[in-house]
Amino acid sequence: MIVTKVLVIGGGGREHAIVWALQRGRRKCEVVCAPGNGGIAQTATCVPVNVKDLGDLIRVVAEQQPDLTIIGPELPLSLGLVDEMQRRGLKVFGPTQAAAQLETSKGFAKEFMQRWRIPTAHYAVCTSLDEVHASLPLFHVPMVVKADGLAAGKGVLICKTRDEVLAAAEGLFSGKLLGVAETRIVLEEFLEGEEISFLVLCDGKHGLPLAPAQDHKRIGEGDTGLNTGGMGAYSLDSLLDSHMTEWLMTHVVQPTLDGMSAEEMPFTGVLYCGLMMTARGPMVLEYNARFGDPETQAILPRLETSLLTVLEAAVDGKLDSLELRWKPGASACVVAASAGYPGEYKTGDAIIGLEETAKDVAVFHAGTALKRGKLVTSGGRVLAVSATGDDLQTALGKAYAALEKIHFDGMYFRRDIGHRALSKNS
Ligand code: AMP
Ligand code: GLY
Repeated sequence: MIVTKVLVIGGGGREHAIVWALQRGRRKCEVVCAPGNGGIAQTATCVPVNVKDLGDLIRVVAEQQPDLTIIGPELPLSLGLVDEMQRRGLKVFGPTQAAAQLETSKGFAKEFMQRWRIPTAHYAVCTSLDEVHASLPLFHVPMVVKADGLAAGKGVLICKTRDEVLAAAEGLFSGKLLGVAETRIVLEEFLEGEEISFLVLCDGKHGLPLAPAQDHKRIGEGDTGLNTGGMGAYSLDSLLDSHMTEWLMTHVVQPTLDGMSAEEMPFTGVLYCGLMMTARGPMVLEYNARFGDPETQAILPRLETSLLTVLEAAVDGKLDSLELRWKPGASACVVAASAGYPGEYKTGDAIIGLEETAKDVAVFHAGTALKRGKLVTSGGRVLAVSATGDDLQTALGKAYAALEKIHFDGMYFRRDIGHRALSKNS
């Protein structure tokens, strides 16, 4: 039997879900993860790597000689890992450095959307405080101020007054807000509506949508408090009906793929469209050039088609010949975080209660490590507990029941994941 060797780059909950999906697929594969984490190490080989260092990433790829590499986080994409691998004739799932600009430069993404008439909020790209002053009369408050570059969710500021806009812009240009001085920022119209994460597999020409999901970005229940990497997600077909999915494919995804091809940077990988469903119709809030975290931990447990087959088809430009099969019903994923996250938190605490695994439940590790054979916390987001069910309530029930059995010092999780969908149905 042919065993495909797959290398997964990254070490969070998203990568654990990818490894898990690869291993449960019908096709046999050997999975190596770099750097991985304490949970991934239980079923796959983990090898150390500095994901911020292109040379080190290439070293691991050269050592491992995988048949296929899947890149989880945005940083290796922004460094040009895909370009470097393609130059060496290696199969890799993810966009090139140029194509990843849809995520790595918000200014690029906005100007691209304007060129290709993709619905998005009104905006201005500014390179100085003078330009911000000059652009202010074009907007109503509240407004949104965004750093151009990658900022791990910290680069978006919602401002209620013009003074707040000026203070935010000053903070971004000076480097006071993010630690690095931005040379470009984006001012944006504030949009109201429900947010949907619409992830689409792309092979440069064709897009194949994944089941829709919704993320919970704030730390506190009722969507309050600081922004985080994501405290939970759920996937439910009714988030987008088939009409809306078709509309989005025609008016957002296909124009994006066609535009990127026309500009000679065809997009292969996951095109994550962060949408706001406004009164004026859906608008793209942001693109990401990768699988979402924690959306992936909710979406992949519903995927019945072999992930390996799907990702190979994307790399080979053959997504048009593929149809995805999904588990009907719903899925939910609840993140357990360390006390203090997204601020300061401690690490090294023992995690207990992981031995029992209930049916339809998967515990994905995000920030865990093995210390003398025992699992300990090693990050802000520690675990993502996912479950599937016939409906959202059932999926959530299973995820929360599994969480009740798990413990680490200071463990925090939101008890209201999926609240918007549940309140709509009641
Ligand atoms: P982004 O990184 O651009 O997705 O922004 C992070 C979060 O900020 C989004 O998920 C939204 O909740 C919020 N946001 C971004 N842009 C806007 C906007 N134009 N109007 C309202 N909220 C926004
Ligand atoms: N869940 C948001 C993201 O992956 O960027």
